[in-house]
Amino acid sequence: MASLNEIRTHFLDFFQRNDHAVVASAPLVPQNDPTLLFVNAGMVPFKNYFTGAETPPWPRAASSQKSVRAGGKHNDLDNVGYTARHHTFFEMLGNFSFGDYFKERAIVHAWDLLTKEFKLPTDKLTVTVYHTDDEAFDLWKKIAGLPDHKIIRIPTSDNFWSMGDTGPCGPCSEIFYDHGDHIPGGPPGSPDEDGDRFVEIWNLVFMQFEQFADGRRESLPKPSIDTGMGLERIAAVLQGVHDNYDVDLFRTIIQASRELVGGAGGASNGPSHRVIADHLRSSSFLIADGVMPSNEGRGYVLRRIMRRAMRHAHLLGAEEPLMHRLAPTLVTEMGDAYPELKRAQDAIVDTLRQEEERFRVTLGRGLALLDEATAGLKDGDVLSGETAFKLYDTYGFPLDLTQDAVRAKGLTVNLDEYDAAMARQREMARGAWKGSGQVAAAAEWFSIRERLGPTVFTGYDETEGTGELLTLVEDGREVDGATTGATVQALFDRTPFYAESGGQAGDKGEITWDGGRARVTDVQKLAGDLHVHDLEILEGALSPGARVQLSVDGPNRATTRSNHSATHLLHAALRNVLGRHVTQKGQMVDGERIRFDFSHGAPLSPDEIDRIEAEVNAVVRQNLAAETKQMAAAEAIEAGAMALFGEKYGDSVRVLTLGKALTGDAAYSVELCGGTHVARTGDIAIFKIVSEQGVAAGVRRIEALTGESARRYLLEQAAVSKSLAEQFKVPVTEVAARVEALQASARKLEKELADAKRQLAMGGGGAAAAGPEEIGGVKVLARIMDGVGGKDLRPIAEEFKKQLPDGVIALIGAADGKAAVTVAVTGSAQGRFNAADLAKAAVLAMGGQGAGGRPDFAQGGAPDGSKAEEGLAAVKAALAG
Ligand code: ALA
Repeated sequence: MASLNEIRTHFLDFFQRNDHAVVASAPLVPQNDPTLLFVNAGMVPFKNYFTGAETPPWPRAASSQKSVRAGGKHNDLDNVGYTARHHTFFEMLGNFSFGDYFKERAIVHAWDLLTKEFKLPTDKLTVTVYHTDDEAFDLWKKIAGLPDHKIIRIPTSDNFWSMGDTGPCGPCSEIFYDHGDHIPGGPPGSPDEDGDRFVEIWNLVFMQFEQFADGRRESLPKPSIDTGMGLERIAAVLQGVHDNYDVDLFRTIIQASRELVGGAGGASNGPSHRVIADHLRSSSFLIADGVMPSNEGRGYVLRRIMRRAMRHAHLLGAEEPLMHRLAPTLVTEMGDAYPELKRAQDAIVDTLRQEEERFRVTLGRGLALLDEATAGLKDGDVLSGETAFKLYDTYGFPLDLTQDAVRAKGLTVNLDEYDAAMARQREMARGAWKGSGQVAAAAEWFSIRERLGPTVFTGYDETEGTGELLTLVEDGREVDGATTGATVQALFDRTPFYAESGGQAGDKGEITWDGGRARVTDVQKLAGDLHVHDLEILEGALSPGARVQLSVDGPNRATTRSNHSATHLLHAALRNVLGRHVTQKGQMVDGERIRFDFSHGAPLSPDEIDRIEAEVNAVVRQNLAAETKQMAAAEAIEAGAMALFGEKYGDSVRVLTLGKALTGDAAYSVELCGGTHVARTGDIAIFKIVSEQGVAAGVRRIEALTGESARRYLLEQAAVSKSLAEQFKVPVTEVAARVEALQASARKLEKELADAKRQLAMGGGGAAAAGPEEIGGVKVLARIMDGVGGKDLRPIAEEFKKQLPDGVIALIGAADGKAAVTVAVTGSAQGRFNAADLAKAAVLAMGGQGAGGRPDFAQGGAPDGSKAEEGLAAVKAALAG
């Protein structure tokens, strides 16, 4: 029996034998397509080849494309776990013709592969065609010899495929496999077609149109072919099982999941293990392609998938976080076909673990919220859909969990409200991915790219050069010329200006021509390989055809180079010091500084920062020549070069090697990189980390400086220490000890001052010396204490209590313009007088609000310390009755 991995290989081999280029799967995050959340079909990476926006490098291709259908037009998330065939992640096998063969060969290939290679019995196969597509109908008859009743005409959108709301589309023909009459269900188009007996295994799309956002549907330049066959489905058929989750790969993952859960949950065979297996795949592949869980866009979809799985792990009774412990099984199963999984294994494990640890807290809080929301409800009541949605959205509770949990109390959930809230949220999610004007502008640049070809970049070797202006674009449209004051985008045939990419900012500088000059404020890389210069025309008129002199701002470029190379060293040092789980999450280097984001779960300690800095600087001092080599991408990654997750590399890549490992002979840093770099590591001069902080869950950010900026930074720091040393009159090295000593001395003085005030208040001359007086038949010590605050009155009152075991002590402190009152009632006076009432009388007399405390001890405060006499008089009056 062929394994899933073998079936994938068989498919690709078959099309290779039939003159198709086998193309590696593109990353799940679409490149150059802001309209789409995730790659959701095999054709997505080839979209521009169908529409004619780009020329395909081959007329025919085949691939096994990673696809995610969660969020967006094709969304299967809510069904996963409960059906035999829904997945959030799946592999789409496909063959493509870009204006080459059309319907006939597409049908011949599909039929040959299924019946001759895979040896499926022809009587198990049924096909559908779009109801008006007579050509496809006749071809199926001719090629496959199928009887008329097995070529079913379908009038619905089921047989018209489109990528999304916009993009290539066309009528399609689907091939169904009959799993046998022991499973309920009818053929496509019949009343019981929704049953599970006839399963669609392959969709052949006859790409003929492009759908635009404004409703227009135009013919493509050349009719093309896009096909899609879910690998999991065809594997189920070839392995003789009905359920996708019974194919070898899923069995292995589910087995691992059951073993790890153990107990009753491990014995269960319910939906939870399927959910876990499916979501493990989508989460791991998304993380490997650079998506991190977050609260918006793609990251949010990932988080929902992860948490849905984690809730199921909880439901099964898994006591420890589970998902990250399953990741190694997945990597073993799929890592050969998708090496990015192997490279990202540490990051996957780390991200899954952290998210699950965090979600366990939220899960508890969500349950608490649910308890609260249902506390006042009784049998037959309805829980608000908003609450259910909040639980889903904020606490990651799928609706079914909430329904389950409230069912025990005889409650139901208001589904209309829930759906409305969900629809609102979907709208918002989609709004975030509208793609806005970028799409139009991007299309414009692709057509320019087709006409004019790529820009030749000369900036690895030089910072000056001459070139010809090819086109000018103003406000998204090509124009004939521009004059002083205009802000335009310019494309030259060749340029030394680096265009922003790989986290390195575009160069700045100047261009001059006969009679004019312009400032280059930024350079962007558009349509793949066009260097588009943002110009401000300072003088003269410029139009296409002009010969121009291009000059990059040299010092800015030199610092950018040094910052970029230092970033590679930092990346390597982070992995050496913190561990192999560290991967780059984003970077921005320019002529000012380095900003580097990486995955790591905790703040860095001062010692770690010190070790990282020390390593980088040690490699800087090696002053070895930087080496760049042009290599085949696969070969470079195989040789251990760091490649970034989710980055799409061309066939040939630049590989940058910097320094030598601090022990052993290996290179210190080897990375794929198209950026500009130093000639020798010593050019970096100094590397200094200036800040380290968290920017998202599990992502830290380091900011750092090199060379002259680092020197200036250190100088500023030194100036601060120097000025402190001068003020304290000690050497710089003793400033810290001096500050500590001063702080200790200040604390001591404060304490002494408070003691002295107390002594003075109690024992000093004047009123304080007078003994207790007798009022209303009780001994009373009533004192005003200047300069004593509320905090200090209490210990004084405690002292007086010892001197007056039977009586009333009333103290009013006046400090900082305010009054504080403390009243204590001792011994036999207790019961006759209430300290709280007495304190309150004083406070009210001084314009305050009230006092608090017990009958034997109370305190209060009032805003006006000058009324202390009145306060004391009020206490005495109260005592006198
Ligand atoms: N693009 C087509 C699909 O996804 C083949 O079904």
